[in-house]
Amino acid sequence: MPVDIQSPSLCLGIVGTGAMGRGIAQIAAQAGIRVLLFDALHGAAAGARETVIGTLDKLAGKGKISADALAAASAKLEVVPRLEGLASAQVVIEAIVENLDVKQKLFQQLEDIITADCILATNTSSLSVTSLAAACKRPERVVGFHFFNPVPLMKIVEVIAGLLTAPEVSAAMLDLGRRMGHTAVAASDTPGFIVNHAGRGFVTEALRILGEGIAEFHEVDRIMREAAGFRMGPFELMDLTGLDVSQPVMESIYHQYYEEPRYRPSPLAAQRLAGGLLGRKTGRGFYRYANGTAEAMPVAAVPTAPPGRVWFSQTHPEWADVLREIAVAAGVEVETDYVPSAEALCIVTPLGADATTCCVGQGLDPQRTVGIDCLFGLVTGRRRTLMTTPLTDPAMRDAAHALFAADGTAVGVIRDSAGFIAQRIVACIVNIGCDIAQQRVATPADIDRAVTLGLGYPKGPLAFGDALGARKILGVLEAMQSFYGDPRYRPSPWLKRRALLGVSLLTEES
Ligand code: NAI
Repeated sequence: MPVDIQSPSLCLGIVGTGAMGRGIAQIAAQAGIRVLLFDALHGAAAGARETVIGTLDKLAGKGKISADALAAASAKLEVVPRLEGLASAQVVIEAIVENLDVKQKLFQQLEDIITADCILATNTSSLSVTSLAAACKRPERVVGFHFFNPVPLMKIVEVIAGLLTAPEVSAAMLDLGRRMGHTAVAASDTPGFIVNHAGRGFVTEALRILGEGIAEFHEVDRIMREAAGFRMGPFELMDLTGLDVSQPVMESIYHQYYEEPRYRPSPLAAQRLAGGLLGRKTGRGFYRYANGTAEAMPVAAVPTAPPGRVWFSQTHPEWADVLREIAVAAGVEVETDYVPSAEALCIVTPLGADATTCCVGQGLDPQRTVGIDCLFGLVTGRRRTLMTTPLTDPAMRDAAHALFAADGTAVGVIRDSAGFIAQRIVACIVNIGCDIAQQRVATPADIDRAVTLGLGYPKGPLAFGDALGARKILGVLEAMQSFYGDPRYRPSPWLKRRALLGVSLLTEES
């Protein structure tokens, strides 16, 4: 008899009532599911029950749930003193310590207690569901059910099918995730599943930018927030998560994929972890914190003297047109000849390339050349990023800054970088998202759903690529790969084919 997930009498067992077990218990109880709580630590399950009821009580106090809902959910939570107390559960979810041996032993013990049809689910974020199931008599009933912290607010759950998981077991867990009010997405059993895999581009590329001395960490954060539209910059995110959590995830996924260069971690983060600069929790990470607030970072003074004359590269005529309008509005004379005069500030618009390569390729004077990132739009109010060649005259750099800040828009100046900062980080995110689709870890739509809910990005990686233009993203990656000679930037076949065909990155094969 397959488990009837919609049954009003559905009974869920939860083993391990820490941060995750509690959260799962709360949303299950709120969905009208009877929940049996067990924890190896004496008193922990009872404490977790009290905590969950306390949380529900607060929600009722704020009017977010009714008094009836509070009473109904609280009544669904029961503590069992021994593992044998889970015998009546139709689904058992483990959220115990992240250790394969310990989890395997637990599932072996549970197999002697539970009914023949009971599903065994694991909340693991880094272990293989297939390996865990390998220790069980009936691996077909073992499935991953991966929530995010804090469970009630992170409304996404990944349902991970191991190699031997029965399709009806995965289907039942997708239904259970939905019944618990979450978006449930199906993923194959691969390192990092969807969300933790998709998250590799953002921080590892930001660390690489820092390691290359292209900009200060806080400048990278500003660009990713104010130009690319992320809620939080990569260094703010690492400080929030803590390097003690994020560095092991970076290392684990990199090694599980046999040193795939796209996921290569940074020695900078390893050193900071060793030094105890973990982030908010230790009062110092990339930022310093006082009373939970990050120190204010310096903002460069805005120069006020624009250039006498400016010349715009025509490599991307649509961008050159917008740049000309900005210059005209700022009262700066725009040169329209094929080559610039000997006095003009020369503005190039690199896509994936660096300012030096553009400058030399177009026969310009490196002392008068400055690059501007146009990929994220040049509208007033959206942060603009300029980049210099190693030889750019500081007076020319400041003149460019003054020109593009004349309408009140924030401007940041970085050192030369193939792909600026936002271009390269977003291109890595899109490329990794595409490769997740190529590896058939999940459907394209589920990849985007999981990433927007699980990582809070402004768009899923595939929709992000579509919005900026798949061909442009392909161009960024190809230029970066050519510049660095690093297979880290090699485009995923998924991206390459869809860009060449001119179709959405969300397009599945017919
Ligand atoms: P936690 O340390 O807060 O709670 C673990 C609980 O399990 C503790 O109460 C502990 O007493 C109990 N426990 C340990 N071994 C046990 C055993 N053999 N039998 C019964 N109870 C046992 O851990 P947390 O953060 O809740 O994580 C639990 C699981 O969820 C881990 O597998 C973790 O990787 C995974 N996870 C954690 C996330 C997070 O952000 N904390 C996110 C997603 C998954």
